[in-house]
Amino acid sequence: MVSWRRRWQGAGLARLWGFCCVVLGSWRALLACPAPCTCSASRIWCSEPAPGIVSFPVLERSAERENITDIYIANQRKLESINNNEVGLYVGLKNLTVVDSGLKFVSRQAFLKNTNLQYMILVDNPFKCSCDVMWIKIFQETKFSNTETQDFYCINDNNKRIPLSDMQIPNCGLPSANLSVYNLTVAEGRSTTLYCEATGVPSPNVSWVVANLVSKHESNTSKSPASLTIRNVSSKDSGIRISCIAENIVGEDQASADLVVFFAPNITFIEPPTPDHHWCIPFTVKGNPKPSLQWFYEGAILNESEYICTKIHVSNQSEYHGCLQLDNPTHLNNGAYTLLAKNEYGEDEKRVDAHFMSMPGDDYETTPNDIGDTTNNSNQITSTDVSNKENEDSITVYVVVGIAALVCTGLVIMLIILKFGRHSKFGMKVFGILRGIIGDVKPEGQSCKVSKGRKSYIGLKEGLEYVFFYAGLH
Ligand SMILES: *[C@@H]1O[C@H](CO)[C@@H](O)[C@H](O)[C@H]1NC(C)=O
Ligand SMILES: *[C@@H]1O[C@H](CO)[C@@H](O)[C@H](O)[C@H]1NC(C)=O
Ligand SMILES: *[C@@H]1O[C@H](CO)[C@@H](O)[C@H](O)[C@H]1NC(C)=O
Ligand SMILES: *[C@@H]1O[C@H](CO)[C@@H](O)[C@H](O)[C@H]1NC(C)=O
Ligand SMILES: *[C@@H]1O[C@H](CO)[C@@H](O)[C@H](O)[C@H]1NC(C)=O
Ligand SMILES: *[C@@H]1O[C@H](CO)[C@@H](O)[C@H](O)[C@H]1NC(C)=O
Ligand SMILES: *[C@@H]1O[C@H](CO)[C@@H](O)[C@H](O)[C@H]1NC(C)=O
Ligand SMILES: *[C@@H]1O[C@H](CO)[C@@H](O)[C@H](O)[C@H]1NC(C)=O
Ligand SMILES: *[C@@H]1O[C@H](CO)[C@@H](O)[C@H](O)[C@H]1NC(C)=O
Ligand SMILES: *[C@@H]1O[C@H](CO)[C@@H](O)[C@H](O)[C@H]1NC(C)=O
Ligand SMILES: *[C@@H]1O[C@H](CO)[C@@H](O)[C@H](O)[C@H]1NC(C)=O
Repeated sequence: MVSWRRRWQGAGLARLWGFCCVVLGSWRALLACPAPCTCSASRIWCSEPAPGIVSFPVLERSAERENITDIYIANQRKLESINNNEVGLYVGLKNLTVVDSGLKFVSRQAFLKNTNLQYMILVDNPFKCSCDVMWIKIFQETKFSNTETQDFYCINDNNKRIPLSDMQIPNCGLPSANLSVYNLTVAEGRSTTLYCEATGVPSPNVSWVVANLVSKHESNTSKSPASLTIRNVSSKDSGIRISCIAENIVGEDQASADLVVFFAPNITFIEPPTPDHHWCIPFTVKGNPKPSLQWFYEGAILNESEYICTKIHVSNQSEYHGCLQLDNPTHLNNGAYTLLAKNEYGEDEKRVDAHFMSMPGDDYETTPNDIGDTTNNSNQITSTDVSNKENEDSITVYVVVGIAALVCTGLVIMLIILKFGRHSKFGMKVFGILRGIIGDVKPEGQSCKVSKGRKSYIGLKEGLEYVFFYAGLH
């Protein structure tokens, strides 16, 4: 009852509106409004019975169509159908009313693009009760369950008006789609076939949706079950969703499977280390199932610890982005790092050469490097550059020079002992003094507390190694 009143009010309003617009005729020219209708920026209003419209009103310019939220059509006996691409042009449409008109057919696809549609009133149209209008019943039940469903009538075989909600049509229902498998797993390079069984009356059409599938594929939708064969499956298709759609005049059903491609690991990216919060040798590995990762340092298995460990930062189904994270590495960690990624389908390995430079203030580490690494000039230059940049640290440089002098003195003393004394006890004492001097020098400006001890230990060990190395040379 409420809607009836609104409808008559609407018709009255329409006349008033129509009158206004005859006066303000300029609107029409401005918006290219279809002749028997009245248009504003947001509404289209067609309610004059004569001459009337024969098809759904369409504004010519898309800019004008976008802002239309309300279309009201009444008393248009000659308007018999709404086809696929008419209502859909009005993407912003919220209210559609077609009353007391001649509608017999409305395409099921007509409203697919009208995602903003809130009200759809199609009362008092001579719809014939048939499977053709079944979709409207379902559409209204699902999308407009709380609105004017009761007002929708159709005319049955006995020329009687019955509410659409009471309409019973045999052999007229939604189709259903069923896939042979829902997890489609296949190894890269192999082929696979997916089947889709579509059932329903009226008998449905089948179509496959394989957006972005790069592997060669072919389908046959004319047999039952419909098939989709994918050949020489590429790992690029891992994770792709494949859908089968069964469609008839009542509606559609969709079934989807995810394609899972198993493939051997591929290290697609690896780069020399960069200092971040920690040092990081960044890498990207692709592979499915998830590859196991093993690092090698100079050809030997790298045992991971809390100071050196693999961290995966970002991953999705088959791609892993991560770091070999190194906590305060020194030049001792310089060398070739090899990543080996392995799964049951194969393996891949990539090597990267890492050169860790000492941080400013870590000149203690730089010194033995400068002494020992005479083969690589570029290393020395870079290390010195770092020191020079930090002018405030020149004191540290002096300290280092001092230490170097001390070491040299120690060396000379040692050589004298070795040459003349050969007195092992005395030698050990000098060694102890040397050790005391080197051990007292602690690296500065380090953030990581845990690794400080480790580092100074390495520094000491390294320092002594050089002492003996030079002692051996002389
Ligand atoms: C549509 O609406 C937007 C913003 O609401 C406005 O800028 C634009 O001019 C309108 N277009 C027409 C044709 O009225
Ligand atoms: C749509 O119609 C409903 C009721 O018929 C009304 O309350 C609402 O304001 C209308 N919306 C627009 C945008 O015209
Ligand atoms: C889908 O098909 C499988 C066999 O292929 C069957 O066991 C299952 O019951 C079907 N499901 C539906 C909903 O039809
Ligand atoms: C499909 O795979 C997902 C994860 O890969 C799993 O959780 C699910 O149980 C699988 N379903 C079937 C039917 O195998
Ligand atoms: C689809 O399958 C049917 C029945 O097996 C066959 O007759 C038809 O040729 C096939 N069509 C294609 C394109 O392969
Ligand atoms: C399969 O695809 C790969 C590349 O994706 C190609 O190199 C290879 O030749 C293909 N094999 C066959 C049998 O088509
Ligand atoms: C994983 O992420 C990368 C980008 O990081 C993207 O290119 C790729 O398609 C994604 N793969 C899957 C299966 O989602
Ligand atoms: C089924 O497919 C045919 C050909 O593609 C098409 O003409 C017909 O409209 C489709 N029917 C339905 C109900 O989608
Ligand atoms: C690994 O990936 C790169 C680039 O993504 C590609 O060029 C190369 O062929 C791949 N290797 C293998 C073994 O798939
Ligand atoms: C790593 O650990 C294994 C056993 O845990 C050991 O045999 C191997 O020598 C270690 N490698 C290195 C480089 O320390
Ligand atoms: C020195 O080291 C750099 C970087 O580690 C390298 O590119 C260069 O080839 C090395 N030079 C010599 C002479 O070994």
